[in-house]
Amino acid sequence: MLEELAKIREEALKKLEKVQSEAELTELNVNILGRNGALTGILRGMASLAADERAKLGKEANIVKQELASMFEGAKARMEERAEELRIRAETIDVTLPGVTDIPFGKLSPLTVVYRQIRDALIGLGFTTFEGPEVEYDDYNFTKLNLPLNHPARDMQDTFYVNDRVLLRTHTSPCEARALMTLEPPFRVVIPGRVFRVDEPDASHSPVFMQMEGLVVDKHLTFADLKGTIDTFVKAVFGENVRSRLRPSYFPFTEPSAEVDISCTICGGKGCSSCKGTGWMEIMGCGMTNPHEIENCGLDPHEWNAFAFGVGVDRVACLKYGINDIRLLYEGDARFLRQL
Ligand code: DAH
Repeated sequence: MLEELAKIREEALKKLEKVQSEAELTELNVNILGRNGALTGILRGMASLAADERAKLGKEANIVKQELASMFEGAKARMEERAEELRIRAETIDVTLPGVTDIPFGKLSPLTVVYRQIRDALIGLGFTTFEGPEVEYDDYNFTKLNLPLNHPARDMQDTFYVNDRVLLRTHTSPCEARALMTLEPPFRVVIPGRVFRVDEPDASHSPVFMQMEGLVVDKHLTFADLKGTIDTFVKAVFGENVRSRLRPSYFPFTEPSAEVDISCTICGGKGCSSCKGTGWMEIMGCGMTNPHEIENCGLDPHEWNAFAFGVGVDRVACLKYGINDIRLLYEGDARFLRQL
């Protein structure tokens, strides 16, 4: 039986060397040390032996059993280690591989682009930004701007009223009043914001659109200061070759008032169907702030004078990008934005 024991040991060691997988190792373990394993068979068979032989064989068998058990254990640990290593290697990310390159990026709305260009040009002239509420008092939207109740020019703008005194602002001009009443003159502010008018949406109308107001308060300002300011941001948005001109007009909050035209962005001023043959396109209103407005807002019009302008950002964006339907600016259609 000692011989048999030696044979079992030898064979087990030989097989152990060839084992490839954990499953094979487990099988080998069971076949030798398991309940019906070869070595277990020997230990069981010892019952029939004489006492001294039993002691000798028992001792020997236990040594072999322990030796094999620890060999199995070692092999198992090595195998697990290798499996872990393979797993980690398989999970390694190769950061040098080229990435996914066709991620669709978002784009800025043309309104944002134009707003920033105008704002930045004005900041370059010493302006700061100023903002006011979209839900506004009638008093600021109209009365303080020299449009008292029953003034016919109130009908120039169709107003969403919240109640008798409160409305959705129809322009950014009420912020002129707020700036005049809160800021220490002299100052220069640019006031962006959404404005609202009762209008059926179509290619050139939207009940919500975007304006920017400019207001400069100082002593001895002239029409030339106004013209220079406007020309600076017109060139910043449309390029150095675009010219601007002022045309007499009327606004209650300015005196004198003017309409600003720019040389046609399509034909360059020669005259085409887009500018109706005139070579010019209207973009905004402006003027020297009416002394009544300055007084209504608590400043002395003999001490301070001012000029102001109000530009439709939508209109400028449409002209700049050749967009023929204002609604496209508000629909957020990615296919439209990607073309710009
Ligand atoms: N508030 C005018 C509008 O919405 C635009 C405007 C014209 C603003 C002349 C001004 C200005 O500040 O001086 O039509």
